[in-house]
Amino acid sequence: PPRKLAGRNLAAIAEYIKKCEKVVFMVGAGISTAAGIPDFRSPETGLYSNLARLELPRPEAVFDICYFREDPRPFYALAQELWPGKYKPTLTHIFMRMFSTHSKLLRVFTQNIDTLELAAGIPREQIVFAHGSFAGQHCIECKKEYDRVELEDHVRKAEPAFCECGGLVKPDITFFGEALPAEFHESLDLVEEADLVVVMGSSLSVYPFAALPQRVLDDTPRLLINMEKVGEIGSRREDVVWLGECDDGVRELAENLGWWEEMEAIWKE
Ligand code: OAD
Repeated sequence: PPRKLAGRNLAAIAEYIKKCEKVVFMVGAGISTAAGIPDFRSPETGLYSNLARLELPRPEAVFDICYFREDPRPFYALAQELWPGKYKPTLTHIFMRMFSTHSKLLRVFTQNIDTLELAAGIPREQIVFAHGSFAGQHCIECKKEYDRVELEDHVRKAEPAFCECGGLVKPDITFFGEALPAEFHESLDLVEEADLVVVMGSSLSVYPFAALPQRVLDDTPRLLINMEKVGEIGSRREDVVWLGECDDGVRELAENLGWWEEMEAIWKE
């Protein structure tokens, strides 16, 4: 479609989506807060402001590979809370699934490790887990796979697990100091194919993910749905910034698209 919006609001975005075939989402922890999972950097409620009990040199150390090698216990203490399974997808997750159902989804790039995208029914091949996920677990030294059930047992007891080689075991989530999964690098070119890019629930403060919106072609509309302005979204002519709760933003969009009833029915399943 011609990459032009009729206005700088959600109604104009909805009209544009009706003509789109390739929508890319770039999301972060803010899309899961409504499910009860804290984000990282929100003051008061964010994970990083609530880690005092772990006595870390700095909050990010809990996800730092060098620190993990020195002392894996804080991560294991936290892993129990982060372990997937007990949370339900939010309206925002269901909204993204609607794009898959309506053959308009090119990719969801997520920084989240909660795998709620899968729980919402988005096909695995349409998701890029940019920071990995809890889907697998390996030794950080010899890279051998570790037994899932055994790791779960260690996590439940907050006791670090060791491989038979003596190396530490870690779920396949990306730590600071580690390379991002191959699927992230292999999917970068897709960003330039997008008709529309929607950024939601991320502070865009961790690279290289934070640089993804800059890869979007200049004339391709970018929509930000977030509590606060982030990155440089809003600086281009075809940018739309909507500030507030993601679930409220996507609901307004879904209503404009005539998708709300279908979405609500799936959400209540
Ligand atoms: P952050 O906690 O840094 O940012 C969350 C963003 O979502 C903030 O801008 C919030 O204002 C916003 N937000 C929170 N709740 C919201 C809601 N209900 N509706 C709309 N906006 C909301 O989380 P990320 O950007 O995902 O990486 O953090 C990026 C990475 O930092 C994570 O993947 C993780 C972390 O360290 C690693 O551990 C490698």
